[in-house]
Amino acid sequence: MSHIYFTISCLDLCPPEMKFICLTLLIICGITDSRSEQYEVMGPADTVFALAGEDVILPCSVKPSISVVDMRVEWFRSDLKNSVVHLYEDHDDRNAEQTESYRGRTKLNHEELQRGNASLKLSSVQISDEGRYKCFIQSKSWYDDATVDLSVEAVGRPPVITVDGFDDTGGLHLQCESEGWNPEPVIEWLNSEGVSLSSETAETSRNTDGFRVKHSITVYHSVGKIHCRVKLRHHILETLIIASNKKFNPWRTSIILISAVVLLTVIAGMLIAAFFKKHRKLGQLNNENGIIKQEHEQLLKEKGKIQEECVSLQDEIDKIQQDYDECNKRIMQEHDQHLQSLANTQSKKEDKK
Ligand SMILES: *[C@@H]1O[C@H](CO)[C@@H](O)[C@H](O)[C@H]1NC(C)=O
Repeated sequence: MSHIYFTISCLDLCPPEMKFICLTLLIICGITDSRSEQYEVMGPADTVFALAGEDVILPCSVKPSISVVDMRVEWFRSDLKNSVVHLYEDHDDRNAEQTESYRGRTKLNHEELQRGNASLKLSSVQISDEGRYKCFIQSKSWYDDATVDLSVEAVGRPPVITVDGFDDTGGLHLQCESEGWNPEPVIEWLNSEGVSLSSETAETSRNTDGFRVKHSITVYHSVGKIHCRVKLRHHILETLIIASNKKFNPWRTSIILISAVVLLTVIAGMLIAAFFKKHRKLGQLNNENGIIKQEHEQLLKEKGKIQEECVSLQDEIDKIQQDYDECNKRIMQEHDQHLQSLANTQSKKEDKK
């Protein structure tokens, strides 16, 4: 196939009148020339399996095993718009155009290229790596490619069981969910005897993180242990829930609910009463405060009056004090005079003697 393309493109360079001769010549010399460089690109017979997070080798080689060191080796995703996974050209890796998600995770062994082995090593495999790859090997005069299918297996997170409520007939709603799987796992409910119980609803969704599965079930007259098991080939993850073997009593639930409502009402009533009581007390206190203020003003007035009276009394006291001082002075003077006269009479008496 590739050889005919090569020939036809060369034919365009021929002058039109010589096309037939040219064609014959080219076919003859092309066949003899490319015989020496003819090869077949071989991929694996089966799908390659890889575990997410591990490394994988995508096999690809030429037959016969001639060196491909001087050739162009291109790995691309034929299922993803031929996006470039790895490119080897002009004796080196040329990964400027490489798809972002493969950056730093691809490796071509250059020594193996000499033996015609163009296998690609892909590190820490992701779920998004799953798909169809092409290994394309082109020499100056020949090309061929091989297809490699990669399947990625991812073990998800352990399932989580959620109790989703009770219904009127005493059934217990359970939900089991697990994510991060690839491909889609099998999920099932089992009772304590290991008997499979059929799920009521089943949901599956897929994103870049793999498959997410969610199943629900309703159990009646509980049966002790209920298991939720998620299985992918030989990987099994399981979670169990233990339900009490008492019958679910809807009455008990309603009694609990009613008591809760009654209790809440009582508490609310108490709070309201306390609020009003406080409010009333506050009013009273405000009233009392007014009265006390009035009394305080009256007392202030009276204090003023008393102060005035006090001042006038002080005046009177001063006057009295003055009177008293004058009186005292007079008495002292009289007293002195009296003493003098007494002394005079005494000295006269002694003179007589
Ligand atoms: C090809 O090369 C890879 C390493 O890139 C190696 O693992 C593999 O064994 C080689 N295949 C053969 C057939 O030698």
